Amino acid sequence: MRILVTGGAGYIGSHAVKELIRAGHQVLVIDDLSNGHKKAVDHRATFIRGSTQDSDLIVSKIKLHEIEAVMHFAADIEVGESVTDPYKYYRNNFSNSVLLLEALNTCGIKKFVFSSTAAVYGNPELSPVKETAARMPINPYGRSKMMTEMAIEDGCHAYGTGYTILRYFNVAGASVDASIGEDHRPESHLIPRILCAAREGTVVKIFGTDYETSDGTCVRDYVHVIDLARAHVLAIEKIIPGKGNIYNLGSENGFSVQQVIAACEKVTGRKIIIQQSPRRAGDPPILVASSKKIQSELGWKPQYPDIESIVAHAWNWHTSHPEGYETEMEETHDPLTETASEEYRMAETYRYLGE
Ligand code: UFG
Repeated sequence: MRILVTGGAGYIGSHAVKELIRAGHQVLVIDDLSNGHKKAVDHRATFIRGSTQDSDLIVSKIKLHEIEAVMHFAADIEVGESVTDPYKYYRNNFSNSVLLLEALNTCGIKKFVFSSTAAVYGNPELSPVKETAARMPINPYGRSKMMTEMAIEDGCHAYGTGYTILRYFNVAGASVDASIGEDHRPESHLIPRILCAAREGTVVKIFGTDYETSDGTCVRDYVHVIDLARAHVLAIEKIIPGKGNIYNLGSENGFSVQQVIAACEKVTGRKIIIQQSPRRAGDPPILVASSKKIQSELGWKPQYPDIESIVAHAWNWHTSHPEGYETEMEETHDPLTETASEEYRMAETYRYLGE
């Protein structure tokens, strides 16, 4: 299939691009590089720097590249920032998604995969969380994703656009060859923060040690980014126009912050210096997914369900890229360019390769 990936230069999007190409698909990435890194984009994909709010760009590129399906990753992802700057989240995550959906509708696209989040559940009553649990987000980030989910569902009903919504739990890890990985600025996620502390000998703060969990720290469900990316491939290959589906993506195993720190110490062989700190606003005590639905309906089977593989791959990435994508590396391929002529040349190349 010819697939447009928005946000394909981001952490999860870039892994999905790699897996789509590995599965034989042709990929066009549109990313404004506000959070992503051009170096993260597989060189076999066509890259265009642009925004999902630029409807003319989206429509013209979909037509030029004869796009058949779209995966939408482009979004802001900081829960804390969404509380202090909610309009940014409603604009980028919701309004821009609606603009994108309208543009896709103009082009007759009927296959759409959306990057959603466990944050739409808020503080779920039952664990592990099933897809049927109520959407009750507790922060603007979660609400912006929930509102987009609703727009997609209504669009399916009205225009017959088939969709799959994937709700991610805690994504971590990196590619096995450590060529791409997590490089958020600032970094707020637990595993990269612990690994940074392991490398630099700095302190990791544990946000809350008085939760009602086995050791008092929050419990999360960690899923390897490669397994997550492969779920997107399964999802897009099975979408039926006019039909919609929602799947959780987690491993069904909960790990407390303390347990994650212990796993990081084991993998790195280094002692992590911790500091017990107050709770972080908006953190649910326990978030663990039931991912039975995607396993039975799409045949998804995580290849790296254990926390130590996730941490080990992340550690390889962080130690080989101490400055993230700004680490000086030897170029292994021609740098991508954003010029129109290059884009046309690549479009021609992949059309040729596809024959
Ligand atoms: N934590 C620490 N210290 C840190 C960083 C995190 O103790 O330095 C704790 C957090 O308080 C939380 C756990 O580690 O209890 C995991 O935190 P992350 O920031 O890694 O991930 P979150 O669970 O907050 O967020 C993830 C996704 C979000 C999504 C959310 C759903 O990254 O996009 O799950 O609740 F919205």
